[in-house]
Amino acid sequence: MSFAATILTLYPDMFPGPLGHSLAGRALGTGVWTLDTLQIRDFAEDRHRSVDDTPAGGGAGMVMKADVLARAVDAALAARPDCPVLAMTPRGAPLTQDRVRTLAAGPGVTLLCGRFEGMDERLFEARPVEPVSIGDYVLSGGEMAALTLLDACIRLLPGVMGAASSGVEESFESGLLEYPQYTRPVTWEGRTIPEVLRSGDHAKIAAWRAQRAADDTRLRRPDLWERYRSARDRPPSGAQ
Ligand code: ADE
Repeated sequence: MSFAATILTLYPDMFPGPLGHSLAGRALGTGVWTLDTLQIRDFAEDRHRSVDDTPAGGGAGMVMKADVLARAVDAALAARPDCPVLAMTPRGAPLTQDRVRTLAAGPGVTLLCGRFEGMDERLFEARPVEPVSIGDYVLSGGEMAALTLLDACIRLLPGVMGAASSGVEESFESGLLEYPQYTRPVTWEGRTIPEVLRSGDHAKIAAWRAQRAADDTRLRRPDLWERYRSARDRPPSGAQ
């Protein structure tokens, strides 16, 4: 069964974009995943085919209209009732590797790409649409966020990356950043690969990697480190 990606966007030409290349592109060609785009403007019903209007309460920019978005979402749900609908917006819950894994294990995703100042909030009350963010910064639209989410899912699909993507040693799989990597030459610009990695002692290598994963996470991502530590130090559920 293919993983079905459906994109609701004002810019369907942005897809597959980078996902037409490399491993994702090959997987698209071989039917590991499928891509359908729906032009949001096709769901406008007025003479000017307008998809946005000025914000209630005033302020800069334009807001995407609830009725137009709802008709687009309804069309996507009619075609793929089994796929969750996610709206790409910086107001959404942050995307995590756990969520990516869950999505990649399912039938596919329908991604609604916002533009302008945002989407009429009533859409989220009236339709099963979940807002998702890819990080605490603002893009000019949801399309790049949708491409990012899709890329993260596609690399996990069976056969796309082989062993490399299933590795339990990847960043976030353990709750920590991955340990650093090195490759030949042994010495480059006067810097030598840590001796332990050349020792052939697998137990020592594993211990060094675990230490670096912990140290780097503590330094670079204190938020992840705190979560990791409190999970590690919490007594197992059911314990007294
Ligand atoms: N659209 C604009 N910025 C975004 C973000 N950070 N995540 C998801 N969608 C967005």
